[in-house]
Amino acid sequence: MTTLARSPLQSGRAPLREIASGFDVERVRADFPILHQQAHGHPLVYLDNAATSQKPKAVIEAIVRYYECYNSNIHRGVHYLSERATVEYEASRKTVQSFLHAARPAEIIFVRGTTEAINLVAQTYGRLHVGAGDEVLITAMEHHSNIVPWQLLCEEKRAKLRVAPINDAGELILDEFEKLLSPRTKIVAVAHVSNALGTVNPIATIIKMAHARNIPVLVDGAQAAPRMSVNVQELDCDFYTFSGHKTYGPTGIGVLYGKLPLLESMPPYQGGGEMISSVSFEKTVYNKVPHKFEAGTPDISGPIGLRAAVEYLNALGMDKIARYEHELLTNATEVVSAIPRVRLIGTAKEKAGVLSFVMDGVHPHDIGTILDQEGIAIRTGHHCAQPVMTRFGLDATARASFGLYNTKEEIDALGRGLQKVREVFG
Ligand SMILES: Cc1ncc(COP(=O)(O)O)c(C=O)c1O
Repeated sequence: MTTLARSPLQSGRAPLREIASGFDVERVRADFPILHQQAHGHPLVYLDNAATSQKPKAVIEAIVRYYECYNSNIHRGVHYLSERATVEYEASRKTVQSFLHAARPAEIIFVRGTTEAINLVAQTYGRLHVGAGDEVLITAMEHHSNIVPWQLLCEEKRAKLRVAPINDAGELILDEFEKLLSPRTKIVAVAHVSNALGTVNPIATIIKMAHARNIPVLVDGAQAAPRMSVNVQELDCDFYTFSGHKTYGPTGIGVLYGKLPLLESMPPYQGGGEMISSVSFEKTVYNKVPHKFEAGTPDISGPIGLRAAVEYLNALGMDKIARYEHELLTNATEVVSAIPRVRLIGTAKEKAGVLSFVMDGVHPHDIGTILDQEGIAIRTGHHCAQPVMTRFGLDATARASFGLYNTKEEIDALGRGLQKVREVFG
């Protein structure tokens, strides 16, 4: 079998590991073709990374290589292309395993994204273990995709969705959270990092509290996986989820990590090809984990692209990325706070790469529209976290979110853009 050609980033030039000391952001930016364009006559400033991140050439090239060189269906082929595609697909599982520091490749299930991962757990583990009068515990800062799947389950099973409150800084009130852990709590589901507030939750403590009562914990890592090193074995979480497209990889692919004994005890999510080992009209025997949860032809280019993304992040170093993004956040917090009559929404002590704010007398959509005219992309609205908006008495916020290719100059541009908004609205 021929090995894949490596991307220019990983072969012809110095390895990123060597150039990343001190974080060479200009070098990083050179790897992202989309960044080098104008929007409305200004250099594009992309600050919507919490919605989706841009892709390095290594990811784009890995996907092109798959379609140009070895597109084929996986697992059941005996021919050259199918074997090659299968090897690459399964190699991607191993790369994600080490990215999350999971114990075994079988603990990595490929799904469409965080949303599908949480639905999978709710519909399999949840339907098996949650009954009438039982409780599912989440927090007040969850994304809709970590609320609605549990609501559906609770409705079906006549169970209760309990919600741990947050304080005015957007931090989980741990005492209240602990009080809500009851003998009826069958699962806890909590964001690692809030997409609307930027809060980093004390996940390890949350997990310890729940495990002390034998309650499993699902962690929604959609905003954490691109921003910090994650070690699922150290955290001891039972499930961990993230989305490829927010982690510099392709859309349509995501990851559910689950502890193997849990995954083995769960019924399948969907039925079809791949997830079986034998089928007769009398009885179907399911395939082993992880294949039991990957019914039908999967997204094959997705894991291959995601692997390139994870290799890219590994080469830069997740700890360096986290430190650099923290500098950007600190800088942006100062710049945005200096604009008259701006209020930050989410002022937790522990925050990562997300800055939500409102401006007196200006609707967030107007902020977004004026910034767009300056070439600056931010997000405005409820960020799929309407209960967070309600908690702060708002309909919407403006949100700038940072990625590893953003610069201090871009944050200065955001500051100038917001000054302009202030001038327009007085
Ligand atoms: C914290 C959080 N959870 C879940 C999701 C859902 O991710 P996806 O739409 O990729 O499934 C998002 C997306 O914004 C998110 O920020």
